[in-house]
Amino acid sequence: MGTNVLKTETPTSIDDAVYFLKENLNEGDHRPSISFGFGDPSCFECFRTTPVAEEAIVEAVRSAKFNSYAPTGGILPARRAVADYLSRDLPYRLSPDDVYLTLGCNQAAEITIEVLARPGANILLPRPGYPDIEAYAIFNKLEIRQFDLLPERGWEVDLDTIEAMSDESTVAMVIINPGNPSGSVYTYNHLNKIAETARKLGIVVIADEVYGHLVYGSNPFVPMMTCDPSGLLRKDEIAESINKLLVYSPFPPTLIQGAIPQILEKTTQDFFSKTINILRKNLEICYDKLKEIPCMMIPQKPEGAFFAMILKMTWSFCLKLAKEESLIILPGVTVGLKNWLCMTFAVEYSSLEDGLGRRVSTAEDTTITSPRNFNSISVALSSWSQQVFDTYKHDPLLQKVITRKMVNTHSRPEFGLVDGLLGYKGIIAIGAEGNLRKKLVSVAYESHIEGKQGTL
Ligand SMILES: Cc1ncc(COP(=O)(O)O)c(C=O)c1O
Repeated sequence: MGTNVLKTETPTSIDDAVYFLKENLNEGDHRPSISFGFGDPSCFECFRTTPVAEEAIVEAVRSAKFNSYAPTGGILPARRAVADYLSRDLPYRLSPDDVYLTLGCNQAAEITIEVLARPGANILLPRPGYPDIEAYAIFNKLEIRQFDLLPERGWEVDLDTIEAMSDESTVAMVIINPGNPSGSVYTYNHLNKIAETARKLGIVVIADEVYGHLVYGSNPFVPMMTCDPSGLLRKDEIAESINKLLVYSPFPPTLIQGAIPQILEKTTQDFFSKTINILRKNLEICYDKLKEIPCMMIPQKPEGAFFAMILKMTWSFCLKLAKEESLIILPGVTVGLKNWLCMTFAVEYSSLEDGLGRRVSTAEDTTITSPRNFNSISVALSSWSQQVFDTYKHDPLLQKVITRKMVNTHSRPEFGLVDGLLGYKGIIAIGAEGNLRKKLVSVAYESHIEGKQGTL
């Protein structure tokens, strides 16, 4: 039997991308390689878990009470402790029967998607997003429809697109809040609008809140469940299906389940505050440092979780960083966005300082030429666009004009480098000259620009 392995020149999954970049590190570079690729803070001493958790697990082992298989969905004390813990943020109380313990958030997403999948169905996933969720949808033969998160609106969900792209075969939409990799933290108001839209369309919202409470901006974390107090899911067969599927799924180790009540009860706020303070400080360092580097910027400062999306060219730039600076940063394509980079700042301070101190600016991508008379182009800019404009204004390699609402979202790929045009849905960044530029401008006009802004 032949195998049909899809071969691409450059990998598109996070793991493959990181390994690919590692293979391209320069062996002659004696500096340690630094990776801002995987988000795995636990391996750093400064993010070590609380002693409360370590002791709770040791105690569970010594007690010999948790050596057998757990019942489906988890042992009662652990489910009760989780229900009580989550109820703190809700206007109503959860019961242990509302809780299913899984092997991390990944298995929870996998099971939920499997329960909802049916022939011919589709699911709406955010872009940028978390690739594992996409993989589970593919495994379950769901058609994937991606909706955009809007960087200029704090990476909020583009709700118009949700309505436009859903149909009677749509079973669910996924949100990640706090966002990975966007770093967004949604307001109650926005979550409510999402819930309203989903209700109107008759679809389920799968809310991945694995980074719940890991927030350090102005918005507090609001759990999605506050927008479904009627417990709709319990009323239909979804809960029953989850139960049935869990019977045939691997369980979280009973020993860990045994430790959960103690971990939740005894971990103090200090532990979380310490972690959040480190992340906040790291983010500030990253943000300030990247501001100094031409061609790289974080258009929306993250407010939660520990990734940042950086507006910059893609693979060739990442390769250059790996080869010339022993620095690993992910190309945005691994999280669904071309022409961006994605980096974690959940690393030890020394790695952050060392990595960002490497001459990142020398590793610029030079594949885009700049328009000559950049300053003669006058465009009305939104504040977000203005920020991007200011960043690139003096950059000799990649000068851009950002105008709004120039590309018809549905008729062309939202992101992509088209003939030297860095395009993002509704936004065009021009980095071309001569005939090419003329062509781009005519494309822009053709697409019935909303309130044609400025003179090009
Ligand atoms: C958005 C998101 N969801 C789910 C997961 C997986 O969580 P877990 O390790 O609990 O399975 C991650 C881990 O990186 C994540 O970033």
